Amino acid sequence: MKREFSTCPSTFTETWPGEFANFSWGDFLTAIPAPIFLVTSYKANGQPNACLQSWSTFVGDARQFLCILGSVARSGHLYSTLKATGECIVNFPSVDIYDKCTATIHHNQWDTDEITAAGLTVQAGRTVHAPSIAECFLNLECKVLWMREHFPNSRDLVACLQVQHIAMDPARYNEDQLGRYGPTGYIYNVHSPRSADTGTVTPDCLGYIQLHAAPADDSEER
Ligand SMILES: Cc1cc2nc3c(=O)[nH]c(=O)nc-3n(C[C@H](O)[C@H](O)[C@H](O)COP(=O)(O)O)c2cc1C
Repeated sequence: MKREFSTCPSTFTETWPGEFANFSWGDFLTAIPAPIFLVTSYKANGQPNACLQSWSTFVGDARQFLCILGSVARSGHLYSTLKATGECIVNFPSVDIYDKCTATIHHNQWDTDEITAAGLTVQAGRTVHAPSIAECFLNLECKVLWMREHFPNSRDLVACLQVQHIAMDPARYNEDQLGRYGPTGYIYNVHSPRSADTGTVTPDCLGYIQLHAAPADDSEER
């Protein structure tokens, strides 16, 4: 039998001050994983900005391939650069450079080239005025279509990005080579799952995709 939740389970406690002000209890209960990537752009002073992001999705139809950034902090550099330039690059790292990706958070000063400071390499975007990260296996060059508040005066916004151009390592799109999945492929954010019964916290960790054959489906359409 399922348990029903409309409010934060009483067993949940913060593991750091302000944790529950920054994240919803629903996030900790469901702990739905989302891919991790770096969004790069130019600050108004010309310095490259890098923002580690998750809580996002990727979708499209015949006309567009879109990246929906689910949670862009209004207080961050990413938001101000997207507003000012309308362009960015979404860069997917493999786990071997994840420590450099998190280092961008500690080099988040306005006057810093955050990509170089983190030990990564800046490359010019081909179709947008934004820096990309050479070490990442996939770079999506994007223009901002729109940004919306989650709700009036929300802390974070949704940004809808239109992908203009894709650079991808062939060893990644060939599944018989490195491929996109498994321990060296796309990284997922597993954010502090909690047990509603005991309050036990599984510390933050990274996930990856293990492929299983899908059951046969005879229908032509979704
Ligand atoms: C795994 C992980 C995922 C993150 N996801 C987001 C996110 O989705 N949105 C966000 O605003 N910050 C996110 N952050 C925090 C930002 O990376 C961090 O605050 C960054 O320094 C902000 O950069 P900015 O000032 O260039 O915007 C995440 C951090 C980590 C470690």
